[in-house]
Amino acid sequence: MTGKTLLWDQTLFRRGELFEFDHIPEHFAHRDSQQRSLIFGVRPALHGMRPLNMLCVGPPGTGKTTAVKKAFEELGEHAPGVITAHVNCQASQTRYTIFSQIFQKLIGHAPPTSGVSFKKILDEIAKYLIQNEKILIVALDDINYLFHEKEADNVLYSLLRAHETHPGTKIGIIAILSDDSLSYVFDPKVGSIFLPEEILFPRYAWDEIKSILSDRAKLGFYPGVLSEDVLDVIVDYTSEAGDLRVGIDLLKRSALNAEARASTNISEDDVRLAYRKSRMLHLSRMIASLGSGE
Ligand SMILES: Nc1ncnc2c1ncn2[C@@H]1O[C@H](COP(=O)(O)OP(=O)(O)OP(=O)(O)O)[C@@H](O)[C@H]1O
Ligand SMILES: [Mg+2]
Repeated sequence: MTGKTLLWDQTLFRRGELFEFDHIPEHFAHRDSQQRSLIFGVRPALHGMRPLNMLCVGPPGTGKTTAVKKAFEELGEHAPGVITAHVNCQASQTRYTIFSQIFQKLIGHAPPTSGVSFKKILDEIAKYLIQNEKILIVALDDINYLFHEKEADNVLYSLLRAHETHPGTKIGIIAILSDDSLSYVFDPKVGSIFLPEEILFPRYAWDEIKSILSDRAKLGFYPGVLSEDVLDVIVDYTSEAGDLRVGIDLLKRSALNAEARASTNISEDDVRLAYRKSRMLHLSRMIASLGSGE
């Protein structure tokens, strides 16, 4: 393949969508124990019981969001009595907007924008759950974005106490924390009732990164685009950052660099050039999660 020239309308990407961050991989390896713990925690809902509360913790790019979305997908197929709501707390940073998102998921449209109190939105959510005999599981993804002004405590407290304020409601919480440590301490009134099962997402080992990125490249590129030597360089960079997102972004950007040179395969230089940008992705995630934890 080396030295061959790409025609202007040719591409190295067989399935370009595999390199987008919101892509849910069909094959999700090396997270079996975390998947088992998540399923174990949500299982009670299959039998009409309140699911266990859970807390997924680990550094950026270790598969937390993917694991929870996969578990929700699986649950959706088997549990008509359960509704799942995945809320991105970076996009919705207040209790009001978070509950509006949950409302939208249940009712199918956003609550009216003016003059509706938080209490009214919660009332409607609870009414829906009770009337339709549904159990709700809420994933609060990137909950560290709610650590300002005790918003996380407020959100958790409202969800945890819903069965008292609105008897008959059954709600489970999966909080996802993008951090190296469990340094955040919840308010005692929340801590005494939250009691989550902790599910840890450690950084992937070098070999694990290699197998994940190799799978992605095999499905996403045409044969011969990525040699094993060049893959190893990408794995080195990814392993150094500890963030799988860097590796996926490197695959995409280095292939684009190769295309820009009209080459049919990725070179080490294509990777090196791409790394400057891909690294920023990881750094900005790190800084965002540090800043919001204070
Ligand atoms: N085991 C895996 N197999 C295949 N792809 C994976 C795996 N783990 C993570 N990924 C991919 O890596 C990227 C990052 O994963 P994900 O978004 O789940 O990480 P995260 O832990 O939620 O990160 P953050 O804390 O920054 O939100 C995604 O594109 C996802 O598809
Ligand atoms: Mg995530």
